[in-house]
Amino acid sequence: MATSAEVTARAPAKVNLELVVGALRPDGYHDLATVFQAVALADDVTARPARDEASDDVTVTVSGPQAAAVPLDGSNLAVRAARLLAAHTGLDARVHLHIHKEIPVAGGMAGGSADAAAALVACDALWGTGLSRDELRALAAELGSDVPFSLLGGTAVGTGRGERLTPALARGDHHWVIALAARGLPTPAVYRELDRLRGRRVLPEPRVSDRLMQALRSGNAEALGAALANDLQPAACSLAPELERTLALGASCGALGGIVAGSGPTVAFLVRGPEQAMDLSVSLAASGQVGDVRRTHGPVPGARIVEPGRG
Ligand code: C5P
Repeated sequence: MATSAEVTARAPAKVNLELVVGALRPDGYHDLATVFQAVALADDVTARPARDEASDDVTVTVSGPQAAAVPLDGSNLAVRAARLLAAHTGLDARVHLHIHKEIPVAGGMAGGSADAAAALVACDALWGTGLSRDELRALAAELGSDVPFSLLGGTAVGTGRGERLTPALARGDHHWVIALAARGLPTPAVYRELDRLRGRRVLPEPRVSDRLMQALRSGNAEALGAALANDLQPAACSLAPELERTLALGASCGALGGIVAGSGPTVAFLVRGPEQAMDLSVSLAASGQVGDVRRTHGPVPGARIVEPGRG
């Protein structure tokens, strides 16, 4: 039986409309400048008090198409988020989390980060911590570079390692076709490959392009499609060469733009509207080149409380 002591939060996946990667820092991260857009593909995290008196910690279950690929131990970002929030507030961490997963796992769309952001919001409400949005954002940044954006949502510029955010002026609703790969790519491996490909090149401080920001302000989807850019794309394609073919297929089907999503291997295509989205989905699925296809749109809000169940 569902009790009132159960809270579900939903957090979106993201696409990096532009991702400019700077130098490797002494702490192992790269300075970057990026423009995030939150899309309607989302994970739900339901938090409820643990029933088992013997359990003194966080437990987790997962449902959804790729549930089997999600770790159930302390490496799960939602579990880490609940533990961090409990440690920060001095509250009892005994909670059960259920993740309904729609965002591709290890796909470059910040699925793990979305789970962390949703767990923070759900546990915060369940426990009535009264933390400010700023305090939650600081905890989010401890959990991962993309977690603060999963909280914020919308369209935003990220700097630092991606965790320093400024909302961006953006007009319009954008339609995306997402081509899922048959396998995941670990983010650290893609950054390492980028460093290898770049060698000892001296890099300027990363900044997002005026072209992309103008395209966002105008709401012109053609201009936005032409301005999509991702420095991690050559590295992702080097590790997963089949991505080149997926990108070429999208271009030949008339997508306004195509880009490897974050560190990949998911590929995101910007299209004119729902009709072109349907046509491109059919072509991608028929090609046999991609694992699966999703249609989505953005921008959408960041992590927020929703009624349980999807719909
Ligand atoms: O912050 P997060 O845990 O999501 O980062 C995962 C990995 O991605 C890092 O350990 C690092 O190897 C790489 N990364 C990076 N520079 C960034 C963000 C992530 O090198 N700005």
